[in-house]
Amino acid sequence: MKIAVIQGPNLNMLGVREQQIYGPMKLEQIHQQMKEFADQNGVEVEFFQSNLEGEIVDRIQECYGDADGIILNAAAYTHTSIAIRDAISAVNLPTLEVHISNIARREEFRQQNMIAPVCTSSIVGFGPFGYHLAMVGMLQIFNEIRV
Ligand code: DQA
Repeated sequence: MKIAVIQGPNLNMLGVREQQIYGPMKLEQIHQQMKEFADQNGVEVEFFQSNLEGEIVDRIQECYGDADGIILNAAAYTHTSIAIRDAISAVNLPTLEVHISNIARREEFRQQNMIAPVCTSSIVGFGPFGYHLAMVGMLQIFNEIRV
C-alpha cells in the first residue's frame, strides 16, 4: 500500500512562518515522523511539496494507478482551487485533508473550502499531530492497522 503526501504552498516554511499558528516543527521533521510510522506499519509513503497549483494537480494525477491514498494539505489553495478539487475527484482515491490550524476559527476568507467536499475526511486544528492522525486514518481505510 502506498500513501502520497502532498503539501501545498508555504508549508516548506513551517518552523519559520507564523509559529504562533503553525508551531516550531519543520516540514522535514513532520515527514520523518510519518515515514517512521509508515515503516512500522509496512506501508510506503512518498512526500511532495509545491508552491505551484499546477504542480499539485500534476502530482495528484500521478497518484492514479500508483498510490492507494492521498494525504493532502492544499494550504491556501484549499480556499480557491477548483483545479485541485477536480484533480482529487478525477483520481477517486481515499483522500484525507489536513490543516495544521483550525481553519473554522480563522479569517472569513478561510471559511470557503473547495477541497473538503471531495475528500474522505478532514483533520483540522491538531497542529502537526494532524498528519499522524491522517496516517492512522489512512491505515484504518486500508484496514491494515495493527492494534
Ligand atoms: C493551512 C491553513 C490555510 O488556510 C493556510 O493558507 C495554510 C495552512 C493549515 O495547515 O492550517 O497555508 O492549510
